[in-house]
Amino acid sequence: MTPRRPARLVVLVSGSGTNLQALLDACADPSYGARVVAVGADRDDIEGLARAERAGVPTFVRKVGQFTSRDHWDRAVTDTVAGFEPDLVVLAGFMKLVGAEFLTRFGGRVVNTHPALSPSFPGMRGPADALAYGVKVTGCTLFVVDAGVDTGPIVAQRAVPVEDDDTADTLHERIKVAERAMLVDTVGRMARAGWTVEGRRTRFGDEG
Ligand code: GAR
Repeated sequence: MTPRRPARLVVLVSGSGTNLQALLDACADPSYGARVVAVGADRDDIEGLARAERAGVPTFVRKVGQFTSRDHWDRAVTDTVAGFEPDLVVLAGFMKLVGAEFLTRFGGRVVNTHPALSPSFPGMRGPADALAYGVKVTGCTLFVVDAGVDTGPIVAQRAVPVEDDDTADTLHERIKVAERAMLVDTVGRMARAGWTVEGRRTRFGDEG
């Protein structure tokens, strides 16, 4: 994929939006090579939407409950996102699985950030599951979204040590520090250099 310059990012959120904020801050520098053209959510009244509004970025909300089926919701999200003509869609703490229509329209151009080292601990409780398992190192993963749960081709990972006195919350907060840096570094490189996906292998356009 070779994005436009600056690359157009649509970011989907469900919560506090600290990863979104890191992207918004990075995009303030023109040399970053990307800008957030819209932020979408599956719920109202979240800090992620407030962050977008403060940055002057258009927002939209599509709640599953507003639609007669999950497929209708997926189609509505797909159409709305498509209207913003994204080069890259970033799921940043978006707590819904996107559906078949979304992946057909944007396949290979949707990344998700997950607070664990894939393929370990997929799902909604990555930090808590890593802690319960007793691993000494966990981390975060940015991957190209496919039809599975946190199974897509990996673009970047960062390792984070587990401390003896960690709770799921303290561990998640430490992971999120690494995750924001990973997201900013990786999305910027994708925007500036482009990327390819071949099977499970991803590559930046500036790699040999
Ligand atoms: C992030 O740690 C993200 O990886 C996680 O939610 C957090 C959102 O934080 N996502 C998942 O667990 C999805 N499986 P934020 O709203 O402050 O960016």
